[in-house]
Amino acid sequence: MPSFTRNIGTVLLATVNLLASSQAQVTSSDAEAAYTALQQWYNGSTGLWIPSTGWWNSANCLTVIADLAQIDGTAKSEAESVFSTTHSNAPSYEASMTKVMGANAMPQTYYAGAMPAGMESTETTANQGWLNGYYDDEGWWALAWIAAYDVTGNSDYLSTAEYIFNDMAQSLNTTPCGGGIWWDKAHTYVNAIANELFLDVAAHLANRASNGSAYQEYALNQWTWFKNSGLINSQNTINDGLDNSTCQNNGQTVWSYNQGVILGALTELSKSTGDSSYITEAQTIANAAISALTTDGILHDPCEPDCGVDGSQFKGVFARNLQILYKASPQSSYATFLSDNANSIWSNDQENNQLSVVWSGPFESPANASTQSSAMDAIVAALATS
Ligand SMILES: *[C@@H]1O[C@H](CO)[C@@H](O)[C@H](O)[C@H]1NC(C)=O
Ligand SMILES: *[C@@H]1O[C@H](CO)[C@@H](O)[C@H](O)[C@H]1NC(C)=O
Ligand SMILES: *[C@@H]1O[C@H](CO)[C@@H](O)[C@H](O)[C@H]1NC(C)=O
Ligand SMILES: *[C@@H]1O[C@H](CO)[C@@H](O)[C@H](O)[C@H]1NC(C)=O
Repeated sequence: MPSFTRNIGTVLLATVNLLASSQAQVTSSDAEAAYTALQQWYNGSTGLWIPSTGWWNSANCLTVIADLAQIDGTAKSEAESVFSTTHSNAPSYEASMTKVMGANAMPQTYYAGAMPAGMESTETTANQGWLNGYYDDEGWWALAWIAAYDVTGNSDYLSTAEYIFNDMAQSLNTTPCGGGIWWDKAHTYVNAIANELFLDVAAHLANRASNGSAYQEYALNQWTWFKNSGLINSQNTINDGLDNSTCQNNGQTVWSYNQGVILGALTELSKSTGDSSYITEAQTIANAAISALTTDGILHDPCEPDCGVDGSQFKGVFARNLQILYKASPQSSYATFLSDNANSIWSNDQENNQLSVVWSGPFESPANASTQSSAMDAIVAALATS
Protein backbone atom coordinates (compact mmCIF):
# COMPACT_ATOMS: atom_id res chain seq x y z
CA MET A 1 0.00 0.00 0.00
CA PRO A 2 1.44 3.47 -0.86
CA SER A 3 2.40 5.22 2.34
CA PHE A 4 0.05 8.13 1.65
CA THR A 5 -2.96 5.76 1.59
CA ARG A 6 -1.68 3.92 4.63
CA ASN A 7 -1.27 7.17 6.53
CA ILE A 8 -4.77 8.31 5.66
CA GLY A 9 -6.00 4.92 6.81
CA THR A 10 -4.17 5.31 10.11
CA VAL A 11 -5.57 8.79 10.60
CA LEU A 12 -9.10 7.58 9.85
CA LEU A 13 -8.71 4.68 12.26
CA ALA A 14 -7.40 6.99 14.95
CA THR A 15 -10.37 9.31 14.41
CA VAL A 16 -12.84 6.43 14.73
CA ASN A 17 -11.17 5.31 17.96
CA LEU A 18 -11.22 8.85 19.28
CA LEU A 19 -14.93 9.14 18.51
CA ALA A 20 -15.64 5.85 20.25
CA SER A 21 -13.68 6.74 23.35
CA SER A 22 -14.99 10.30 23.52
CA GLN A 23 -18.59 9.12 23.38
CA ALA A 24 -20.33 10.35 26.52
CA GLN A 25 -20.70 7.83 29.32
CA VAL A 26 -24.32 6.98 29.98
CA THR A 27 -25.41 7.95 33.52
CA SER A 28 -28.10 6.92 35.95
CA SER A 29 -29.98 10.14 35.26
CA ASP A 30 -30.09 9.09 31.59
CA ALA A 31 -31.56 5.76 32.72
CA GLU A 32 -34.17 7.59 34.80
CA ALA A 33 -35.08 9.78 31.82
CA ALA A 34 -35.43 6.65 29.68
CA TYR A 35 -37.69 5.15 32.37
CA THR A 36 -39.92 8.26 32.28
CA ALA A 37 -40.12 7.92 28.49
CA LEU A 38 -41.03 4.22 28.83
CA GLN A 39 -43.86 5.06 31.19
CA GLN A 40 -45.58 7.32 28.65
CA TRP A 41 -46.67 4.00 27.08
CA TYR A 42 -47.81 2.36 30.34
CA ASN A 43 -51.54 2.01 30.87
CA GLY A 44 -52.24 1.80 34.59
CA SER A 45 -55.69 0.34 34.12
CA THR A 46 -54.32 -2.69 32.28
CA GLY A 47 -50.89 -2.67 33.91
CA LEU A 48 -49.41 -3.22 30.44
CA TRP A 49 -47.48 -1.33 27.76
CA ILE A 50 -50.11 -2.25 25.15
CA PRO A 51 -50.68 -1.09 22.39
CA SER A 52 -47.19 0.46 22.15
CA THR A 53 -45.87 -3.09 22.46
CA GLY A 54 -47.25 -6.56 23.11
CA TRP A 55 -48.07 -8.99 25.91
CA TRP A 56 -44.74 -10.79 26.40
CA ASN A 57 -42.84 -7.57 25.72
CA SER A 58 -44.71 -6.04 28.66
CA ALA A 59 -43.11 -8.68 30.90
CA ASN A 60 -39.74 -7.46 29.63
CA CYS A 61 -40.71 -3.84 30.36
CA LEU A 62 -41.47 -4.89 33.93
CA THR A 63 -38.16 -6.77 34.18
CA VAL A 64 -36.02 -3.82 33.12
CA ILE A 65 -37.83 -1.61 35.62
CA ALA A 66 -36.97 -4.14 38.34
CA ASP A 67 -33.34 -4.20 37.18
CA LEU A 68 -33.22 -0.39 37.26
CA ALA A 69 -34.66 -0.41 40.78
CA GLN A 70 -31.81 -2.73 41.84
CA ILE A 71 -29.20 -0.11 41.00
CA ASP A 72 -31.10 3.14 41.53
CA GLY A 73 -32.82 3.87 44.83
CA THR A 74 -34.74 6.78 43.29
CA ALA A 75 -36.48 4.42 40.87
CA LYS A 76 -37.38 1.87 43.53
CA SER A 77 -40.60 3.25 44.97
CA GLU A 78 -42.02 3.94 41.52
CA ALA A 79 -41.05 0.45 40.45
CA GLU A 80 -42.86 -1.05 43.44
CA SER A 81 -46.03 0.75 42.47
CA VAL A 82 -45.75 -0.46 38.85
CA PHE A 83 -45.28 -4.07 40.07
CA SER A 84 -48.32 -3.87 42.28
CA THR A 85 -50.51 -2.30 39.57
CA THR A 86 -49.43 -4.81 36.93
CA HIS A 87 -49.77 -7.78 39.28
CA SER A 88 -53.38 -6.77 40.09
CA ASN A 89 -54.58 -5.63 36.68
CA ALA A 90 -52.77 -7.46 33.88
CA PRO A 91 -54.29 -10.93 34.50
CA SER A 92 -57.77 -9.64 33.66
CA TYR A 93 -56.61 -8.05 30.41
CA GLU A 94 -57.59 -10.02 27.34
CA ALA A 95 -54.53 -10.29 25.07
CA SER A 96 -55.98 -12.35 22.26
CA MET A 97 -53.29 -13.34 19.79
CA THR A 98 -51.80 -15.75 17.35
CA LYS A 99 -48.13 -16.19 16.44
CA VAL A 100 -46.52 -17.06 13.17
CA MET A 101 -42.95 -18.16 12.46
CA GLY A 102 -42.01 -15.98 9.52
CA ALA A 103 -39.09 -16.21 7.10
CA ASN A 104 -35.74 -16.84 8.83
CA ALA A 105 -37.64 -17.94 11.96
CA MET A 106 -38.64 -14.38 12.66
CA PRO A 107 -41.56 -14.72 15.07
CA GLN A 108 -44.47 -12.36 14.62
CA THR A 109 -47.32 -11.99 17.09
CA TYR A 110 -50.64 -10.76 15.74
CA TYR A 111 -53.00 -9.27 18.31
CA ALA A 112 -56.77 -9.14 17.90
CA GLY A 113 -57.72 -5.51 17.36
CA ALA A 114 -54.33 -4.73 15.79
CA MET A 115 -54.40 -7.04 12.77
CA PRO A 116 -52.85 -5.82 9.54
CA ALA A 117 -55.23 -5.23 6.63
CA GLY A 118 -56.47 -8.48 5.16
CA MET A 119 -55.88 -10.49 8.35
CA GLU A 120 -58.85 -9.20 10.36
CA SER A 121 -60.55 -12.59 10.35
CA THR A 122 -57.46 -14.48 11.66
CA GLU A 123 -58.33 -16.71 14.60
CA THR A 124 -56.78 -15.66 17.91
CA THR A 125 -56.73 -17.15 21.41
CA ALA A 126 -56.90 -15.17 24.62
CA ASN A 127 -54.75 -15.57 27.71
CA GLN A 128 -56.15 -16.82 30.98
CA GLY A 129 -54.42 -14.61 33.45
CA TRP A 130 -50.66 -15.17 33.16
CA LEU A 131 -51.13 -18.28 31.03
CA ASN A 132 -51.66 -18.35 27.28
CA GLY A 133 -50.99 -20.58 24.29
CA TYR A 134 -47.23 -19.94 24.24
CA TYR A 135 -44.76 -21.27 26.79
CA ASP A 136 -42.22 -18.56 25.95
CA ASP A 137 -44.71 -15.83 26.88
CA GLU A 138 -45.32 -17.63 30.16
CA GLY A 139 -41.58 -17.84 30.84
CA TRP A 140 -41.09 -14.10 30.32
CA TRP A 141 -43.81 -13.37 32.87
CA ALA A 142 -42.35 -15.83 35.35
CA LEU A 143 -38.96 -14.09 35.05
CA ALA A 144 -40.59 -10.68 35.44
CA TRP A 145 -42.20 -11.73 38.73
CA ILE A 146 -38.94 -13.22 39.96
CA ALA A 147 -37.23 -9.89 39.19
CA ALA A 148 -40.00 -8.03 41.07
CA TYR A 149 -39.62 -10.47 43.98
CA ASP A 150 -35.87 -9.78 44.06
CA VAL A 151 -36.55 -6.05 44.46
CA THR A 152 -39.42 -6.25 46.94
CA GLY A 153 -39.20 -9.60 48.74
CA ASN A 154 -42.97 -9.86 48.14
CA SER A 155 -43.71 -13.59 48.20
CA ASP A 156 -46.89 -13.14 46.12
CA TYR A 157 -44.64 -12.39 43.16
CA LEU A 158 -42.57 -15.52 43.77
CA SER A 159 -45.77 -17.58 44.02
CA THR A 160 -46.94 -16.20 40.68
CA ALA A 161 -43.65 -17.30 39.10
CA GLU A 162 -44.05 -20.79 40.61
CA TYR A 163 -47.63 -20.98 39.38
CA ILE A 164 -46.54 -20.09 35.85
CA PHE A 165 -43.61 -22.53 35.94
CA ASN A 166 -45.99 -25.31 36.90
CA ASP A 167 -47.97 -24.74 33.69
CA MET A 168 -44.79 -24.78 31.58
CA ALA A 169 -43.74 -28.01 33.25
CA GLN A 170 -46.91 -29.71 31.96
CA SER A 171 -45.30 -29.64 28.51
CA LEU A 172 -42.10 -31.35 29.62
CA ASN A 173 -41.27 -34.61 27.81
CA THR A 174 -44.29 -34.34 25.52
CA THR A 175 -42.19 -33.42 22.46
CA PRO A 176 -40.92 -35.98 19.94
CA CYS A 177 -37.35 -34.76 20.61
CA GLY A 178 -36.48 -36.84 23.66
CA GLY A 179 -37.39 -34.18 26.24
CA GLY A 180 -37.75 -30.43 26.49
CA ILE A 181 -40.95 -28.45 26.09
CA TRP A 182 -42.95 -27.18 23.15
CA TRP A 183 -43.00 -23.55 22.08
CA ASP A 184 -46.78 -23.58 21.93
CA LYS A 185 -49.75 -25.44 23.30
CA ALA A 186 -50.78 -26.26 19.71
CA HIS A 187 -47.51 -28.27 19.44
CA THR A 188 -46.17 -26.83 16.19
CA TYR A 189 -42.51 -26.16 17.12
CA VAL A 190 -39.79 -27.14 19.57
CA ASN A 191 -37.57 -24.09 19.79
CA ALA A 192 -34.68 -22.69 21.76
CA ILE A 193 -36.39 -19.78 23.45
CA ALA A 194 -39.15 -21.70 25.24
CA ASN A 195 -36.65 -24.30 26.38
CA GLU A 196 -34.10 -21.75 27.59
CA LEU A 197 -36.82 -19.91 29.48
CA PHE A 198 -37.99 -23.12 31.13
CA LEU A 199 -34.40 -23.76 32.25
CA ASP A 200 -33.91 -20.17 33.36
CA VAL A 201 -37.10 -20.02 35.43
CA ALA A 202 -36.30 -23.38 37.06
CA ALA A 203 -32.74 -22.27 37.88
CA HIS A 204 -33.95 -18.96 39.33
CA LEU A 205 -36.56 -20.74 41.46
CA ALA A 206 -33.92 -23.21 42.64
CA ASN A 207 -32.20 -20.27 44.33
CA ARG A 208 -35.34 -18.68 45.76
CA ALA A 209 -38.22 -21.09 46.46
CA SER A 210 -38.41 -22.94 49.78
CA ASN A 211 -38.49 -26.19 47.80
CA GLY A 212 -35.56 -25.05 45.65
CA SER A 213 -34.14 -28.54 45.23
CA ALA A 214 -37.21 -29.63 43.24
CA TYR A 215 -36.59 -26.77 40.83
CA GLN A 216 -32.88 -27.53 40.68
CA GLU A 217 -33.72 -31.03 39.53
CA TYR A 218 -35.85 -29.64 36.70
CA ALA A 219 -33.03 -27.28 35.75
CA LEU A 220 -30.35 -29.98 35.73
CA ASN A 221 -32.46 -32.32 33.61
CA GLN A 222 -33.39 -29.54 31.22
CA TRP A 223 -29.76 -28.49 30.75
CA THR A 224 -28.77 -32.10 30.03
CA TRP A 225 -31.48 -32.27 27.39
CA PHE A 226 -30.72 -28.84 25.93
CA LYS A 227 -27.00 -29.48 25.65
CA ASN A 228 -27.63 -32.73 23.76
CA SER A 229 -30.55 -31.43 21.70
CA GLY A 230 -28.40 -30.08 18.86
CA LEU A 231 -29.64 -26.51 19.43
CA ILE A 232 -26.07 -25.40 20.20
CA ASN A 233 -24.15 -25.49 16.93
CA SER A 234 -20.47 -26.16 16.25
CA GLN A 235 -19.67 -22.43 16.57
CA ASN A 236 -21.16 -22.43 20.10
CA THR A 237 -24.07 -20.22 19.10
CA ILE A 238 -27.69 -21.28 19.36
CA ASN A 239 -30.02 -21.57 16.38
CA ASP A 240 -33.74 -20.85 16.60
CA GLY A 241 -35.11 -24.37 16.90
CA LEU A 242 -35.38 -28.00 15.94
CA ASP A 243 -36.71 -29.38 12.70
CA ASN A 244 -40.33 -30.49 13.02
CA SER A 245 -39.81 -33.97 11.68
CA THR A 246 -36.17 -34.88 12.41
CA CYS A 247 -35.59 -33.02 15.71
CA GLN A 248 -32.23 -31.86 14.26
CA ASN A 249 -31.02 -28.26 14.56
CA ASN A 250 -33.02 -26.44 11.86
CA GLY A 251 -30.14 -24.07 11.05
CA GLN A 252 -32.41 -21.08 11.56
CA THR A 253 -31.36 -17.60 12.65
CA VAL A 254 -28.98 -17.10 15.57
CA TRP A 255 -31.07 -14.47 17.40
CA SER A 256 -29.47 -12.44 20.15
CA TYR A 257 -32.06 -13.38 22.77
CA ASN A 258 -31.33 -17.08 22.33
CA GLN A 259 -27.68 -16.39 23.20
CA GLY A 260 -28.86 -14.39 26.23
CA VAL A 261 -31.40 -16.34 28.30
CA ILE A 262 -29.04 -19.31 28.49
CA LEU A 263 -26.35 -17.15 30.17
CA GLY A 264 -28.62 -16.20 33.07
CA ALA A 265 -29.86 -19.78 33.33
CA LEU A 266 -26.36 -21.27 33.57
CA THR A 267 -25.27 -18.59 36.05
CA GLU A 268 -28.23 -19.37 38.32
CA LEU A 269 -27.54 -23.09 37.94
CA SER A 270 -23.95 -22.51 38.96
CA LYS A 271 -25.15 -20.67 42.07
CA SER A 272 -27.58 -23.37 43.08
CA THR A 273 -25.15 -26.26 42.53
CA GLY A 274 -21.88 -24.55 43.47
CA ASP A 275 -20.44 -25.89 40.21
CA SER A 276 -18.46 -23.26 38.31
CA SER A 277 -18.32 -25.32 35.10
CA TYR A 278 -21.73 -23.85 34.20
CA ILE A 279 -20.10 -20.41 34.20
CA THR A 280 -17.42 -21.65 31.83
CA GLU A 281 -20.08 -23.03 29.48
CA ALA A 282 -21.95 -19.72 29.62
CA GLN A 283 -18.75 -17.79 28.81
CA THR A 284 -18.15 -19.98 25.76
CA ILE A 285 -21.62 -19.12 24.43
CA ALA A 286 -21.31 -15.42 25.36
CA ASN A 287 -17.96 -15.09 23.59
CA ALA A 288 -19.25 -16.87 20.48
CA ALA A 289 -22.35 -14.65 20.41
CA ILE A 290 -20.38 -11.44 20.80
CA SER A 291 -18.13 -12.41 17.95
CA ALA A 292 -21.03 -13.53 15.72
CA LEU A 293 -23.47 -10.69 16.36
CA THR A 294 -21.44 -7.52 16.80
CA THR A 295 -20.06 -5.01 14.33
CA ASP A 296 -17.54 -2.53 15.74
CA GLY A 297 -18.52 -3.73 19.20
CA ILE A 298 -22.24 -3.02 18.79
CA LEU A 299 -24.83 -5.80 18.97
CA HIS A 300 -27.16 -6.40 16.04
CA ASP A 301 -29.91 -8.79 15.03
CA PRO A 302 -30.23 -9.59 11.32
CA CYS A 303 -33.83 -8.26 11.24
CA GLU A 304 -32.79 -4.63 11.77
CA PRO A 305 -34.35 -2.17 11.31
CA ASP A 306 -37.61 -4.05 10.57
CA CYS A 307 -37.70 -6.32 13.59
CA GLY A 308 -41.44 -6.07 14.15
CA VAL A 309 -43.27 -6.33 17.45
CA ASP A 310 -41.22 -9.31 18.65
CA GLY A 311 -37.71 -8.98 17.20
CA SER A 312 -37.31 -5.44 18.49
CA GLN A 313 -37.15 -6.89 22.04
CA PHE A 314 -34.32 -9.37 21.50
CA LYS A 315 -31.03 -7.54 22.03
CA GLY A 316 -31.85 -6.25 25.51
CA VAL A 317 -32.33 -9.83 26.66
CA PHE A 318 -28.71 -10.59 25.72
CA ALA A 319 -27.40 -7.50 27.52
CA ARG A 320 -29.42 -8.24 30.67
CA ASN A 321 -28.17 -11.79 30.89
CA LEU A 322 -24.55 -10.92 30.08
CA GLN A 323 -24.73 -8.64 33.10
CA ILE A 324 -25.94 -11.54 35.27
CA LEU A 325 -23.00 -13.64 34.04
CA TYR A 326 -20.56 -10.76 34.59
CA LYS A 327 -21.72 -10.30 38.19
CA ALA A 328 -20.97 -13.94 38.95
CA SER A 329 -17.59 -13.92 37.20
CA PRO A 330 -16.38 -10.48 36.13
CA GLN A 331 -14.70 -10.41 32.71
CA SER A 332 -13.64 -6.90 31.78
CA SER A 333 -14.47 -7.54 28.11
CA TYR A 334 -18.14 -7.95 29.05
CA ALA A 335 -18.21 -4.67 30.97
CA THR A 336 -16.59 -2.95 27.97
CA PHE A 337 -19.11 -4.53 25.60
CA LEU A 338 -22.03 -3.35 27.75
CA SER A 339 -20.73 0.18 28.17
CA ASP A 340 -19.91 0.50 24.44
CA ASN A 341 -23.44 -0.56 23.56
CA ALA A 342 -25.11 1.66 26.17
CA ASN A 343 -23.04 4.69 25.18
CA SER A 344 -23.74 4.10 21.51
CA ILE A 345 -27.48 3.87 22.21
CA TRP A 346 -27.44 7.15 24.08
CA SER A 347 -25.26 8.98 21.54
CA ASN A 348 -26.56 7.54 18.26
CA ASP A 349 -29.95 5.93 18.84
CA GLN A 350 -31.73 8.39 21.15
CA GLU A 351 -34.07 11.33 20.65
CA ASN A 352 -35.78 13.07 23.55
CA ASN A 353 -34.85 10.16 25.81
CA GLN A 354 -36.56 7.74 23.44
CA LEU A 355 -34.51 4.78 22.25
CA SER A 356 -34.95 2.87 19.02
CA VAL A 357 -34.12 -0.46 17.47
CA VAL A 358 -30.63 -0.06 15.91
CA TRP A 359 -28.12 0.52 18.69
CA SER A 360 -25.47 1.94 16.39
CA GLY A 361 -28.07 4.43 15.14
CA PRO A 362 -29.56 6.29 13.49
CA PHE A 363 -32.70 6.79 15.56
CA GLU A 364 -35.63 5.02 13.87
CA SER A 365 -38.82 6.92 14.46
CA PRO A 366 -41.07 6.14 16.20
CA ALA A 367 -39.59 4.33 19.19
CA ASN A 368 -41.98 2.23 21.23
CA ALA A 369 -42.10 0.39 24.55
CA SER A 370 -40.32 -2.59 22.99
CA THR A 371 -37.35 -0.72 21.53
CA GLN A 372 -37.25 1.45 24.67
CA SER A 373 -37.21 -1.36 27.21
CA SER A 374 -34.75 -3.39 25.14
CA ALA A 375 -32.25 -0.54 24.85
CA MET A 376 -32.79 0.25 28.54
CA ASP A 377 -31.67 -3.31 29.33
CA ALA A 378 -28.26 -2.44 27.86
CA ILE A 379 -28.09 0.88 29.71
CA VAL A 380 -29.07 -0.66 33.05
CA ALA A 381 -26.63 -3.54 32.47
CA ALA A 382 -23.82 -1.09 31.71
CA LEU A 383 -24.55 0.92 34.85
CA ALA A 384 -24.71 -2.28 36.91
CA THR A 385 -21.28 -3.41 35.71
CA SER A 386 -19.42 -0.10 35.79
C1 LIG B 1 -56.03 2.01 29.06
O1 LIG B 1 -56.69 0.76 28.93
C2 LIG B 1 -58.09 0.84 29.12
C3 LIG B 1 -58.62 -0.59 29.15
O2 LIG B 1 -58.28 -1.28 27.96
C4 LIG B 1 -58.69 1.69 28.00
O3 LIG B 1 -60.08 1.77 28.18
C5 LIG B 1 -58.06 3.07 28.07
O4 LIG B 1 -58.53 3.85 26.98
C6 LIG B 1 -56.55 2.97 28.01
N1 LIG B 1 -55.99 4.30 28.28
C7 LIG B 1 -55.22 4.93 27.43
C8 LIG B 1 -54.68 6.25 27.86
O5 LIG B 1 -54.92 4.46 26.35
C1 LIG C 1 -44.48 -27.91 12.17
O1 LIG C 1 -45.60 -28.68 11.78
C2 LIG C 1 -46.86 -28.11 12.11
C3 LIG C 1 -47.94 -29.13 11.83
O2 LIG C 1 -47.74 -29.70 10.58
C4 LIG C 1 -47.02 -26.80 11.36
O3 LIG C 1 -48.27 -26.21 11.68
C5 LIG C 1 -45.92 -25.87 11.78
O4 LIG C 1 -45.99 -24.67 11.08
C6 LIG C 1 -44.56 -26.49 11.58
N1 LIG C 1 -43.61 -25.66 12.27
C7 LIG C 1 -42.48 -25.23 11.71
C8 LIG C 1 -41.58 -24.36 12.56
O5 LIG C 1 -42.16 -25.53 10.58
C1 LIG D 1 -42.84 -25.97 45.47
O1 LIG D 1 -43.77 -25.59 46.46
C2 LIG D 1 -44.88 -24.85 45.96
C3 LIG D 1 -45.65 -24.30 47.14
O2 LIG D 1 -45.91 -25.29 48.08
C4 LIG D 1 -45.70 -25.74 45.05
O3 LIG D 1 -46.81 -25.04 44.56
C5 LIG D 1 -44.81 -26.16 43.90
O4 LIG D 1 -45.50 -27.04 43.04
C6 LIG D 1 -43.54 -26.84 44.41
N1 LIG D 1 -42.66 -26.93 43.25
C7 LIG D 1 -42.11 -28.07 42.84
C8 LIG D 1 -41.25 -28.00 41.64
O5 LIG D 1 -42.29 -29.15 43.39
C1 LIG E 1 -41.80 -1.07 17.57
O1 LIG E 1 -40.67 -0.66 16.80
C2 LIG E 1 -40.14 -1.66 15.95
C3 LIG E 1 -38.84 -1.14 15.36
O2 LIG E 1 -39.00 0.08 14.73
C4 LIG E 1 -41.18 -1.98 14.90
O3 LIG E 1 -40.69 -2.92 13.99
C5 LIG E 1 -42.41 -2.54 15.64
O4 LIG E 1 -43.42 -2.84 14.72
C6 LIG E 1 -42.92 -1.52 16.64
N1 LIG E 1 -43.98 -2.14 17.45
C7 LIG E 1 -45.24 -1.70 17.40
C8 LIG E 1 -46.21 -2.43 18.26
O5 LIG E 1 -45.57 -0.79 16.71
